[in-house]
Amino acid sequence: MISIVVIGFGNVGSHLCQAFQNAEEVALVQIYNRSEISLPESLQAIAVTHSISGLAKADVYLLALPDDIISEFSSKLPKSDTLVVHTSGGVSMNSLNRDNHRGVFYPLQSFSKSRKPEFKKIPICIEAEHHSDLNLLQELGESISEKVVAISSEERGRLHLSAVFVNNFVNHMYHISETMLEEADLDFDLLKPLIRETAHKIESMSASNAQTGPALRGDTKTLEKHLHLLKDSPYKEIYEQLTSSIQETYGKKL
Ligand SMILES: NC(=O)c1ccc[n+]([C@@H]2O[C@H](COP(=O)([O-])OP(=O)(O)OC[C@H]3O[C@@H](n4cnc5c(N)ncnc54)[C@H](OP(=O)(O)O)[C@@H]3O)[C@@H](O)[C@H]2O)c1
Repeated sequence: MISIVVIGFGNVGSHLCQAFQNAEEVALVQIYNRSEISLPESLQAIAVTHSISGLAKADVYLLALPDDIISEFSSKLPKSDTLVVHTSGGVSMNSLNRDNHRGVFYPLQSFSKSRKPEFKKIPICIEAEHHSDLNLLQELGESISEKVVAISSEERGRLHLSAVFVNNFVNHMYHISETMLEEADLDFDLLKPLIRETAHKIESMSASNAQTGPALRGDTKTLEKHLHLLKDSPYKEIYEQLTSSIQETYGKKL
């Protein structure tokens, strides 16, 4: 049985708490949050603390805290044999204070408090300084997910950068499209089958084989028409840059 204290009850911490609570191999002994939190029914029995001095003993302290405070917060933790891990894609393991055993437990998914994630399908990227700690994290990961992979901080940094492109940037594109359709009094729902098909395609085709559109085809008149529609728009530059990137990738010039 692995005992764990989850530190931070935000998007990631709150969902991980519920996943660990449902895992037979894990004992969620305590939740730390700096401010007051309201626990869902399934976590009512778990102890909560708001102070570092009130932290219970556990095999693992899991820090689900903003990237920029992970290092400083880890230096405030009591010195012990506890394995301290963070959940960030973009922070190196060595940012954690070296007084405790260090590791990473990065769930590669986008989490929002209001959406229940399906942890079984979420890759958990783990890293640890000591072999025995890596085994512990492997076991912890497998208690909630079917895919646990050991990767270095450098590899995780690259993975996280790629994740920003496929998730954060793509989501921003949805926002841009939604804004433009709102201005034209058109329903964003009309685009949803296209969004779904774009995501499904990548399961069975490479991104380069799946690429379509006026930039790839070199349809100059259509491209000019789009740029005209965007003439006073803050999104014109993004359109031009992505069009150039597609054309450089596939060898067509405007
Ligand atoms: N969200 C995602 O999609 C996602 C995916 C994978 C990994 N991650 C990583 O997971 C970590 C947490 O992200 P999140 O989205 O869960 O963040 P979040 O929702 O903003 O939650 C942050 C948590 O940290 C606490 N906190 C903030 N500042 C603090 C401070 N100065 N001292 C102590 N506690 C503080 C907050 O407490 P209060 O309630 O008191 O504000 C809250 O519990 C980050 O490292 C992130 O990179 C996020």
